[in-house]
Amino acid sequence: MKRILFAALLSLPMCVEAQDMKLEWTRNFDENKVPAYTLPDPLLCENGMRVTTREQWEQYRRPELLRTVQTYMYGFIPELKHPLGFRVDTVNTAYQFQPGKKQKQYTRKMVSVFLTEKGERGPLVHAEVITPNDAQGPVPMFMMFAWSLNHGFPTQRLLENGYGVAVLNTFEGCPDGRNAFTEGVIAAYYEPGQTYRRPDEWGCLAAWGWEASRLLDYLQTDPAIDEHRVAILGHSRLGKAALWTAVQDERFAMAFPVNSGCGGAALSRRKFGETVWAMNRSFPYWVCDNNQQFNMREEFLPFDQHSVIALMAPRPVYLATGQDDAWADPLGEFLAGKAAEPVYALYGRAGIGCDKQPAVDVAMDKGYIAYHIRTGGHAILQYDWDRFIEYADRFLK
Ligand code: GCU
Repeated sequence: MKRILFAALLSLPMCVEAQDMKLEWTRNFDENKVPAYTLPDPLLCENGMRVTTREQWEQYRRPELLRTVQTYMYGFIPELKHPLGFRVDTVNTAYQFQPGKKQKQYTRKMVSVFLTEKGERGPLVHAEVITPNDAQGPVPMFMMFAWSLNHGFPTQRLLENGYGVAVLNTFEGCPDGRNAFTEGVIAAYYEPGQTYRRPDEWGCLAAWGWEASRLLDYLQTDPAIDEHRVAILGHSRLGKAALWTAVQDERFAMAFPVNSGCGGAALSRRKFGETVWAMNRSFPYWVCDNNQQFNMREEFLPFDQHSVIALMAPRPVYLATGQDDAWADPLGEFLAGKAAEPVYALYGRAGIGCDKQPAVDVAMDKGYIAYHIRTGGHAILQYDWDRFIEYADRFLK
């Protein structure tokens, strides 16, 4: 016993050292240490055929690539057999931001969105839905993932610009932690007797997407809303979710993944900032378990995040990032956007529109893939909102 203890003590410094090296290696912020890599071609089918038309993309390659990304990254979602329903809890048709006679009035609804067939007896998520009363017809919408309903989005400004606003209280339907496997929508879909998540079953990012899709089911029933012009927006982990939501559910017309980084818009093969390993170590519940196979082995992923962006085609997607957000790898987000362009080209649609990463605060936002890196760090700032509204005006109005 003593001998074992002694041997263990002797090997301790080595373990610590190996651990440090690992940490050092997985937290690279030095462009010179980015490994050489080759990105898988999103247009190359597994059978070796290369897609050259949008029909081939839509009928063959897109479904194949989507399945691959589901299998190894975000996991499969349950099959939806019929709409799950909702309950409109409160309706205020004279809602005002600063109550007063001369202030504009809006319609504000609080909606309980059911996430399973159990209706209100199963997991649900609350959403706030506000639409302008003076609209000429059904309005385009900004749907947004929020950390709580007490969020800081510029709701009034969006409304004044002619958009409706729908906000999800995201973590209510699927907690952002290991308890996602015991509470909330993921656990609710376990089969009787199932006690663990199968390797290709959904994680939180896909589950949050499920919430957004179910809220969209509701929006489709609301005559004040144009269901064909709904954009989805999220920041950081919810930026990853926003991108994946719109990929999986093609009813979303546009996506704004903001500071989404690893597991969002940033290339994994660059191993810059947050790596697959770092994300999976801290947040193993965000993606499916199969993704763990790629910890520090990103080069073996059969796709990279440019493929995920490409799955948005031909719909507009805005990759927004910040100069001081190295953890989210702003250059990796640009390069991923660029590498998604060949798929948009099948539709004759322009992508970012420049070959080198643009300067700080220069928005490349005329094409169907937009990108900017603005002053500042990990947040949604005024600059972002200004660009997002312009972009939505360009493509949703
Ligand atoms: C962590 C995590 C990121 C994530 C961020 C957030 O930093 O590593 O992947 O985007 O949290 O959600 O704020």
